[in-house]
Amino acid sequence: MRYVPLMQNIMITGASRGIGLEFVRQYNADGWRIFACCRTPGQASELNDIAARSDGRVTVHQLDVDQGSSVAALKAEIGDQPFDVLLNNAGIMGQRNAARGGIDYDAWRGCLVTNAMGPMRVAEAFADNVAASTQKKLITISSRMGSIGETSATNSIVYRSSKAAVNMVMKILANDLGPQGVIAICVHPGWVRTDMGGSSADISPEESAGGIRNVIAGLTAADNGGFRNYDGGVIQW
Ligand SMILES: NC(=O)c1ccc[n+]([C@@H]2O[C@H](COP(=O)([O-])OP(=O)(O)OC[C@H]3O[C@@H](n4cnc5c(N)ncnc54)[C@H](OP(=O)(O)O)[C@@H]3O)[C@@H](O)[C@H]2O)c1
Repeated sequence: MRYVPLMQNIMITGASRGIGLEFVRQYNADGWRIFACCRTPGQASELNDIAARSDGRVTVHQLDVDQGSSVAALKAEIGDQPFDVLLNNAGIMGQRNAARGGIDYDAWRGCLVTNAMGPMRVAEAFADNVAASTQKKLITISSRMGSIGETSATNSIVYRSSKAAVNMVMKILANDLGPQGVIAICVHPGWVRTDMGGSSADISPEESAGGIRNVIAGLTAADNGGFRNYDGGVIQW
Protein backbone atom coordinates (compact mmCIF):
# COMPACT_ATOMS: atom_id res chain seq x y z
CA MET A 1 0.00 0.00 0.00
CA ARG A 2 1.29 3.46 -0.89
CA TYR A 3 1.58 5.83 2.07
CA VAL A 4 0.39 9.36 1.25
CA PRO A 5 1.29 11.83 4.02
CA LEU A 6 -1.38 14.33 4.92
CA MET A 7 -0.26 17.85 4.10
CA GLN A 8 -0.68 20.31 6.94
CA ASN A 9 -1.98 23.71 5.92
CA ILE A 10 -1.96 27.27 7.17
CA MET A 11 -3.46 30.63 6.30
CA ILE A 12 -1.23 33.62 7.11
CA THR A 13 -2.24 37.31 7.04
CA GLY A 14 0.30 40.08 6.41
CA ALA A 15 2.56 37.69 4.50
CA SER A 16 4.20 40.33 2.29
CA ARG A 17 7.11 41.14 4.61
CA GLY A 18 8.47 40.95 8.15
CA ILE A 19 7.52 38.08 10.43
CA GLY A 20 4.64 37.05 8.15
CA LEU A 21 6.96 36.51 5.17
CA GLU A 22 9.35 34.57 7.41
CA PHE A 23 6.50 32.27 8.49
CA VAL A 24 5.85 31.57 4.81
CA ARG A 25 9.55 30.74 4.24
CA GLN A 26 9.71 28.35 7.19
CA TYR A 27 6.40 26.56 6.70
CA ASN A 28 7.21 26.26 2.99
CA ALA A 29 10.58 24.70 3.81
CA ASP A 30 8.66 22.17 5.93
CA GLY A 31 6.34 21.29 3.05
CA TRP A 32 3.13 22.87 4.32
CA ARG A 33 0.28 24.03 2.06
CA ILE A 34 0.20 27.80 2.60
CA PHE A 35 -2.54 30.31 1.85
CA ALA A 36 -0.42 33.47 2.02
CA CYS A 37 -2.50 36.63 2.28
CA CYS A 38 -1.40 40.19 1.69
CA ARG A 39 -2.87 43.57 0.86
CA THR A 40 -1.15 44.08 -2.50
CA PRO A 41 -0.08 40.80 -4.12
CA GLY A 42 1.29 42.66 -7.16
CA GLN A 43 3.93 44.31 -4.94
CA ALA A 44 4.82 41.27 -2.80
CA SER A 45 7.78 40.22 -4.92
CA GLU A 46 9.56 37.98 -2.37
CA LEU A 47 6.31 36.22 -1.54
CA ASN A 48 5.49 35.75 -5.22
CA ASP A 49 8.96 34.27 -5.80
CA ILE A 50 8.38 31.70 -3.05
CA ALA A 51 4.96 30.84 -4.47
CA ALA A 52 6.35 30.49 -8.01
CA ARG A 53 8.88 27.90 -6.81
CA SER A 54 6.46 25.92 -4.60
CA ASP A 55 4.71 23.66 -7.13
CA GLY A 56 1.41 25.21 -6.13
CA ARG A 57 1.77 24.56 -2.40
CA VAL A 58 2.02 28.30 -1.69
CA THR A 59 -0.74 30.47 -3.14
CA VAL A 60 -0.98 34.24 -2.74
CA HIS A 61 -4.34 35.84 -1.94
CA GLN A 62 -5.44 39.46 -1.67
CA LEU A 63 -6.56 40.34 1.86
CA ASP A 64 -6.85 43.70 3.56
CA VAL A 65 -7.99 42.91 7.09
CA ASP A 66 -9.44 46.43 7.44
CA GLN A 67 -11.99 45.79 4.72
CA GLY A 68 -15.01 43.57 5.26
CA SER A 69 -15.42 43.30 1.48
CA SER A 70 -11.87 41.98 1.10
CA VAL A 71 -12.38 39.38 3.85
CA ALA A 72 -15.72 38.33 2.31
CA ALA A 73 -14.16 38.01 -1.16
CA LEU A 74 -11.42 35.75 0.20
CA LYS A 75 -13.96 33.65 2.07
CA ALA A 76 -15.92 33.24 -1.17
CA GLU A 77 -12.72 32.16 -2.94
CA ILE A 78 -11.64 29.76 -0.18
CA GLY A 79 -15.03 28.26 0.63
CA ASP A 80 -14.99 25.37 3.10
CA GLN A 81 -11.26 24.57 2.78
CA PRO A 82 -10.14 23.50 6.27
CA PHE A 83 -7.20 25.40 7.84
CA ASP A 84 -5.07 23.55 10.39
CA VAL A 85 -3.63 26.89 11.48
CA LEU A 86 -5.05 30.36 10.96
CA LEU A 87 -2.31 32.86 11.72
CA ASN A 88 -3.46 36.43 12.31
CA ASN A 89 -0.15 38.22 11.81
CA ALA A 90 -1.01 41.49 10.00
CA GLY A 91 -0.58 44.54 12.20
CA ILE A 92 0.48 48.17 12.32
CA MET A 93 2.06 50.49 14.89
CA GLY A 94 -0.49 53.27 14.34
CA GLN A 95 1.36 56.07 16.14
CA ARG A 96 4.79 55.45 17.61
CA ASN A 97 5.23 56.43 21.28
CA ALA A 98 1.78 58.03 21.49
CA ALA A 99 1.45 59.66 24.92
CA ARG A 100 -0.84 62.04 26.78
CA GLY A 101 -0.82 65.44 25.14
CA GLY A 102 0.01 64.13 21.67
CA ILE A 103 -2.53 61.50 20.72
CA ASP A 104 -3.40 61.25 17.03
CA TYR A 105 -6.97 59.99 17.26
CA ASP A 106 -7.24 59.15 13.56
CA ALA A 107 -4.12 57.00 13.84
CA TRP A 108 -5.60 55.37 16.95
CA ARG A 109 -8.84 54.59 15.14
CA GLY A 110 -6.89 53.05 12.26
CA CYS A 111 -4.77 51.01 14.65
CA LEU A 112 -7.83 49.57 16.37
CA VAL A 113 -9.38 48.73 13.01
CA THR A 114 -6.30 46.81 11.82
CA ASN A 115 -4.97 45.26 15.03
CA ALA A 116 -8.17 44.50 16.96
CA MET A 117 -11.02 44.38 14.48
CA GLY A 118 -8.93 42.86 11.66
CA PRO A 119 -8.16 39.59 13.48
CA MET A 120 -11.81 39.40 14.53
CA ARG A 121 -13.04 39.90 10.96
CA VAL A 122 -10.69 37.17 9.76
CA ALA A 123 -11.56 34.81 12.62
CA GLU A 124 -15.27 35.39 12.14
CA ALA A 125 -15.05 34.56 8.43
CA PHE A 126 -12.78 31.54 8.81
CA ALA A 127 -13.60 30.03 12.23
CA ASP A 128 -15.53 27.22 10.53
CA ASN A 129 -12.51 26.47 8.30
CA VAL A 130 -10.35 26.12 11.42
CA ALA A 131 -12.94 24.04 13.29
CA ALA A 132 -13.21 21.69 10.28
CA SER A 133 -9.44 21.00 10.23
CA THR A 134 -7.32 18.38 11.98
CA GLN A 135 -5.30 20.73 14.20
CA LYS A 136 -7.83 23.54 14.77
CA LYS A 137 -5.37 26.26 15.80
CA LEU A 138 -6.26 29.97 15.77
CA ILE A 139 -3.11 32.00 16.45
CA THR A 140 -2.94 35.78 16.79
CA ILE A 141 0.32 37.68 16.85
CA SER A 142 -0.31 40.18 19.61
CA SER A 143 2.39 41.91 21.67
CA ARG A 144 3.71 42.00 25.19
CA MET A 145 2.99 45.73 24.86
CA GLY A 146 -0.70 44.78 25.11
CA SER A 147 -0.26 43.11 28.50
CA ILE A 148 -2.11 45.12 31.13
CA GLY A 149 -0.59 43.05 33.92
CA GLU A 150 2.98 43.84 32.86
CA THR A 151 2.57 47.49 31.95
CA SER A 152 4.25 50.29 33.83
CA ALA A 153 4.57 52.36 30.64
CA THR A 154 3.34 55.90 30.11
CA ASN A 155 3.52 55.84 26.31
CA SER A 156 2.51 53.93 23.17
CA ILE A 157 -1.16 54.20 24.15
CA VAL A 158 -2.31 53.68 20.57
CA TYR A 159 -0.47 50.42 19.86
CA ARG A 160 -0.71 49.03 23.41
CA SER A 161 -4.47 49.52 23.58
CA SER A 162 -4.97 47.88 20.17
CA LYS A 163 -3.08 44.79 21.31
CA ALA A 164 -4.85 44.72 24.70
CA ALA A 165 -8.11 44.83 22.73
CA VAL A 166 -7.17 41.96 20.45
CA ASN A 167 -6.12 39.94 23.51
CA MET A 168 -9.65 40.26 24.86
CA VAL A 169 -11.13 39.45 21.44
CA MET A 170 -9.12 36.25 21.28
CA LYS A 171 -9.88 35.26 24.87
CA ILE A 172 -13.57 35.50 24.04
CA LEU A 173 -13.09 33.48 20.84
CA ALA A 174 -11.18 30.87 22.84
CA ASN A 175 -14.17 30.54 25.18
CA ASP A 176 -16.56 30.49 22.24
CA LEU A 177 -14.70 28.05 19.97
CA GLY A 178 -13.01 25.86 22.59
CA PRO A 179 -16.01 23.51 22.80
CA GLN A 180 -15.49 22.76 19.08
CA GLY A 181 -11.90 21.74 19.79
CA VAL A 182 -10.35 24.98 18.56
CA ILE A 183 -7.17 26.13 20.34
CA ALA A 184 -6.99 29.93 20.22
CA ILE A 185 -3.99 31.76 21.66
CA CYS A 186 -2.20 35.10 21.44
CA VAL A 187 1.57 35.16 20.96
CA HIS A 188 4.21 37.83 21.55
CA PRO A 189 6.83 37.47 18.79
CA GLY A 190 9.65 39.16 20.72
CA TRP A 191 11.16 42.48 19.68
CA VAL A 192 11.94 41.60 16.10
CA ARG A 193 14.13 43.24 13.43
CA THR A 194 11.44 44.13 10.87
CA ASP A 195 10.13 47.40 9.45
CA MET A 196 8.01 47.68 12.59
CA GLY A 197 10.61 46.53 15.14
CA GLY A 198 13.54 48.44 13.61
CA SER A 199 17.14 47.40 13.05
CA SER A 200 18.19 47.51 16.73
CA ALA A 201 15.53 45.03 17.89
CA ASP A 202 16.55 41.96 19.90
CA ILE A 203 15.93 39.05 17.55
CA SER A 204 15.72 38.15 13.87
CA PRO A 205 12.49 37.21 12.09
CA GLU A 206 13.99 33.71 11.71
CA GLU A 207 14.32 33.28 15.49
CA SER A 208 10.88 34.75 16.17
CA ALA A 209 8.99 32.70 13.59
CA GLY A 210 10.96 29.57 14.49
CA GLY A 211 10.08 29.96 18.16
CA ILE A 212 6.41 30.62 17.43
CA ARG A 213 6.26 27.59 15.14
CA ASN A 214 7.51 25.46 18.03
CA VAL A 215 4.84 26.94 20.30
CA ILE A 216 2.15 26.24 17.68
CA ALA A 217 3.35 22.69 17.10
CA GLY A 218 3.23 21.90 20.81
CA LEU A 219 -0.24 23.27 21.55
CA THR A 220 -2.84 21.07 23.22
CA ALA A 221 -6.44 21.75 24.23
CA ALA A 222 -5.17 22.80 27.69
CA ASP A 223 -3.43 25.79 26.08
CA ASN A 224 -6.65 27.27 24.69
CA GLY A 225 -7.13 30.90 25.75
CA GLY A 226 -3.47 31.53 26.59
CA PHE A 227 -0.98 34.35 25.96
CA ARG A 228 2.48 33.04 25.16
CA ASN A 229 5.92 34.38 24.37
CA TYR A 230 7.71 33.23 21.20
CA ASP A 231 9.98 31.09 23.39
CA GLY A 232 6.99 29.31 24.94
CA GLY A 233 6.85 31.27 28.21
CA VAL A 234 3.50 32.39 29.58
CA ILE A 235 2.72 36.15 29.50
CA GLN A 236 0.35 37.84 31.92
CA TRP A 237 -2.80 39.28 30.40
N1 LIG B 1 8.45 43.56 15.08
C1 LIG B 1 8.24 43.53 16.38
O1 LIG B 1 9.14 43.81 17.20
C2 LIG B 1 6.89 43.15 16.93
C3 LIG B 1 6.73 43.07 18.32
C4 LIG B 1 5.50 42.71 18.85
C5 LIG B 1 4.46 42.38 17.98
N2 LIG B 1 4.63 42.48 16.62
C6 LIG B 1 3.49 42.11 15.78
O2 LIG B 1 3.89 41.15 14.83
C7 LIG B 1 3.08 41.26 13.65
C8 LIG B 1 3.99 41.36 12.43
O3 LIG B 1 4.79 42.52 12.59
P1 LIG B 1 6.11 42.81 11.72
O4 LIG B 1 7.17 43.21 12.66
O5 LIG B 1 6.36 41.71 10.76
O6 LIG B 1 5.61 44.13 10.95
P2 LIG B 1 5.92 44.70 9.50
O7 LIG B 1 7.26 44.28 9.04
O8 LIG B 1 5.58 46.14 9.59
O9 LIG B 1 4.83 43.93 8.59
C9 LIG B 1 3.47 44.13 8.82
C10 LIG B 1 2.68 43.26 7.89
O10 LIG B 1 1.28 43.49 8.16
C11 LIG B 1 0.65 43.80 6.92
N3 LIG B 1 -0.53 44.64 7.13
C12 LIG B 1 -0.62 45.84 7.74
N4 LIG B 1 -1.88 46.30 7.68
C13 LIG B 1 -2.61 45.36 7.02
C14 LIG B 1 -3.96 45.25 6.62
N5 LIG B 1 -4.85 46.21 6.88
N6 LIG B 1 -4.36 44.13 5.97
C15 LIG B 1 -3.48 43.16 5.69
N7 LIG B 1 -2.17 43.22 5.99
C16 LIG B 1 -1.75 44.30 6.65
C17 LIG B 1 1.71 44.49 6.11
O11 LIG B 1 1.33 44.49 4.76
P3 LIG B 1 1.85 45.61 3.69
O12 LIG B 1 3.17 45.11 3.17
O13 LIG B 1 0.77 45.64 2.67
O14 LIG B 1 1.98 46.92 4.42
C18 LIG B 1 2.90 43.60 6.42
O15 LIG B 1 2.84 42.41 5.67
C19 LIG B 1 2.21 42.49 13.86
O16 LIG B 1 0.93 42.10 14.31
C20 LIG B 1 2.93 43.26 14.96
O17 LIG B 1 2.07 44.10 15.70
C21 LIG B 1 5.82 42.84 16.08
